[in-house]
Amino acid sequence: MVDGRSDIQTVAIVPLAPGHIESFHHALDVVSRERKYLSFLEAPPLDQARQFVVDRIARGDPGYVAACSGEVVGWCDITRHDRPIHAHRGTLGMGIVPSYRGRGLGLRLINATLTQARKAGFVRVELSVHADNARAIALYDKVGFVREGVQSDAICIDGQYGDTIMMAIVERENAAG
Ligand SMILES: CC(C)(COP(=O)(O)OP(=O)(O)OC[C@H]1O[C@@H](n2cnc3c(N)ncnc32)[C@H](O)[C@@H]1OP(=O)(O)O)[C@@H](O)C(=O)NCCC(=O)NCCS
Repeated sequence: MVDGRSDIQTVAIVPLAPGHIESFHHALDVVSRERKYLSFLEAPPLDQARQFVVDRIARGDPGYVAACSGEVVGWCDITRHDRPIHAHRGTLGMGIVPSYRGRGLGLRLINATLTQARKAGFVRVELSVHADNARAIALYDKVGFVREGVQSDAICIDGQYGDTIMMAIVERENAAG
């Protein structure tokens, strides 16, 4: 198991690939079990995570991982919406295991993923973040997301209700054709 004492410069930001599935699943599980940041409280079963990764690669959806010695320590992905009238939109999700946070990896991951989204013609990238997640909100502000609204009591974790903030980047100039 890698840990955060490793030199952060040895962490590579690389496209999410089939070889990452098991360690991506592990990283997702670690962050989910913190019960603070994600909509999962534990990772879905490995088979579902595998299908998610395989499907998104087949669709060409943007996705990068932060990998240290081949092990995933963070991820950022944008999932394109299915219906034709929403197909210009994608939803962004990301996470980094605790010992790798606060040292710029989030910025590297989100920049790589947004660059890929622009190339892929996404006009609108959106996300939802827990209102008390100041570090994530600071990162999203920094790369150009704007706040579109607050969903009151949108989450309930261990009996505690919390708000979520909806944020988006809209760039019509990315539209294909
Ligand atoms: C959110 C997350 C992806 C950010 O990645 P990171 O590598 O830790 O963040 P960075 O080091 O790139 O820092 C992001 C910015 O937030 C700032 N920041 C850090 N802690 C902060 C805090 N408590 N309040 C406000 N800003 C803060 C940093 O200073 C940095 O801004 P700067 O570059 O101008 O200094 C990562 O912390 C994480 O995975 N958290 C848990 C899971 C999660 O929240 N996922 C997102 C769900 S929407």
